[in-house]
Amino acid sequence: MYAEKVLSGMRPTGRLHLGHYHGVLANWIKLQHEYPCLFFVADWHALTTAYDEPGTITQNTWDMIVDWLAAGVDPSQATLFIQSRVPEHAELHLLMSMMTPLGWLERVPTYKDQQEKLTHKDLTTYGFLGYPLLQAADILIYRADKVPVGEDQVPHIEFTREIARRFNHLYGREPNFEEKAKESVKKLGSKRAKLYEELRTRYQEKGEDEALEQGKALLNETQNLSLGDRERLFGYLEGGGKMILVEPGALLTEASRMPGLDGQKMSKSYGNTIALREDEESIRKKIRTMQTDPARVRRTDCGDPEKCPVWQFHLIYSNDEVKSWVQQGCRSAGIGCIECKQPVIEAVLKEQEPMRERARMYEEDPQLVKNIIADGCEKARKLAQETMRDVREAIGLDYS
Ligand code: TRP
Ligand code: SF4
Repeated sequence: MYAEKVLSGMRPTGRLHLGHYHGVLANWIKLQHEYPCLFFVADWHALTTAYDEPGTITQNTWDMIVDWLAAGVDPSQATLFIQSRVPEHAELHLLMSMMTPLGWLERVPTYKDQQEKLTHKDLTTYGFLGYPLLQAADILIYRADKVPVGEDQVPHIEFTREIARRFNHLYGREPNFEEKAKESVKKLGSKRAKLYEELRTRYQEKGEDEALEQGKALLNETQNLSLGDRERLFGYLEGGGKMILVEPGALLTEASRMPGLDGQKMSKSYGNTIALREDEESIRKKIRTMQTDPARVRRTDCGDPEKCPVWQFHLIYSNDEVKSWVQQGCRSAGIGCIECKQPVIEAVLKEQEPMRERARMYEEDPQLVKNIIADGCEKARKLAQETMRDVREAIGLDYS
């Protein structure tokens, strides 16, 4: 059975914090048990905005990878790699650039948004305009089916789908496509072939989306089909040419519920973060000095948890018993704020304990991390090379 693949990337921003953990990483850690997963560091994407200060990218990359591993991303379950170590991404990006209308890139909302936000930097560059196309190459080169991303990235996935469609339309029409497709249908075996034809007719003549879905499922369930036959049958089902590149779907990552120390969204730029594997004393201090309900000036004043960032932490870390202790104690001034914060401190430290443990191993022996990445890059590269062989052949750049 063909397994759906998950792929996602992160720009190397350096040390990650609890916001990343309770949003993106928790999701990755769940997905790695459910699908074959590929997770990578998008270092070239970092360069699109940091082209004038590239020096920090490699250190940020290693720090971020250690954070992934510390958080529980498991290299025996997921393939971890670095974008620039798989140069095939660049080749696919280049080839797709030939058929990408400028208007499509200019219309991607992040293009204008980021230019307006990062005013101190000249982002009228070729590379920055091509950001979404490079991202499309990252995804399409692995024929990934599902891409977990935050809401801001959804337009990039849409864009990727459009590029895949355009590519398949332009290059998926081999000579004698119909004939070859009919040959491929026979390879399904008579029973499946009959069902496939039926579903294809229902979709193409009556536009039944359900028939299309069933047809796709049928192909996914069929073993021992060659890649070429599979691509042809997917394309033939939908009425296009051979499906060389696969249209991915976005898997929307729920926004992290983790607030910052001041109750705003946790973010490095607000200076309100707790890092993953942060020093124990520093965590204690940060939480002890955290803002509370501003109306609770004295210990004897009653408070309202709804107006207190500490309560937001209790919502994430505490069980019902502790939560009702906070509600009652705060509203009646039965407990003090330092007392109230104690279970949060303990819970955050407890959550970080296994992370610090895992991180220590990698910090003591950086070669371990290098080996994991070398291994992941090699695996990723094999997959990427397979796709590139098909892509070159489809375009007609096959000199073998
Ligand atoms: N643009 C993504 C971000 O800023 C990072 C990224 C690069 C990515 N390539 C990708 C995400 C491919 C998913 C798939 O978050
Ligand atoms: Fe916030 Fe707890 Fe103090 Fe109430 S008792 S104001 S919830 S820290």
